[in-house]
Amino acid sequence: MFIIFILFTFQSLCAIPLAEQFKQTGYLEICDKKYGIEKFDSLYAHFDKLIEFLQTNPVWAQKLYIAKERFIRSKAKHFYSTDFFSFYDESTTRGQISFYYSMHFHEFIYTNYKEFKQVPEIIRFFEICLEIQKPYGDIFNEAANELGIKTIFSSKLEQPPILFKIIKYLPSYIATKPHYDGTAFSLFLDSTDNQSLLLSSYKALLKIDDFSSPARTTQTSILLIPGSFLSEFSIYPTPHIVTKSGKTRYATIAFAMRPNYISQITKFATLPNF
Ligand SMILES: [Fe+2]
Repeated sequence: MFIIFILFTFQSLCAIPLAEQFKQTGYLEICDKKYGIEKFDSLYAHFDKLIEFLQTNPVWAQKLYIAKERFIRSKAKHFYSTDFFSFYDESTTRGQISFYYSMHFHEFIYTNYKEFKQVPEIIRFFEICLEIQKPYGDIFNEAANELGIKTIFSSKLEQPPILFKIIKYLPSYIATKPHYDGTAFSLFLDSTDNQSLLLSSYKALLKIDDFSSPARTTQTSILLIPGSFLSEFSIYPTPHIVTKSGKTRYATIAFAMRPNYISQITKFATLPNF
């Protein structure tokens, strides 16, 4: 039933083929957020508690760092083809704090570092991440299917590798340049300030004026964009930037990674300075 609904979501939204949609606008809007604002507010509240805990208990921040270093040397890392996991406190350098959650990192910690299970700030944050990220694997599968590239997610596991990022932007956050995501797809799930996300479709020559905030059918829709891991299929990444606002805000993104992917040396269009 769920799959049928997703199929329906894609067919009804993609009046044109998905590859063409990405070429024309750089994104696909999907009006199927699955969770309400309350759920994401609760996620951000748990994230704040985790941040406070790790900032006041550097020993635990260090333990988490050691666990992450061990995880990226384990086999599981190849499923995601990235080293980005866990907690990044860049509050003093870039005005942002983020957490890259993955189901396998969660499992790895519970198996190898049982003491983490005694920290409510960690358990509660992991549990809500696990719950929220779960349904989006079907959207990534469906997108890959639509594009005729479903083998990109092939592995022993049924679901695509999902890296689930929660980010807190502080008033001191500054953005100067757009970027491309090192992912197969990125799904912008929630933001406390949708207007701050600007993007452009991919083109050889990119100017500041090409970037704008996507016009949404509803404020609660989610946006799917291609990342840089699909260029061998002539699907080019969507450049985007989160602009500064001088306020505290939060965002949640689900990244579809690519099992055993070796980064291609591809030179994408140069990005303009904002
Ligand atoms: Fe990004």
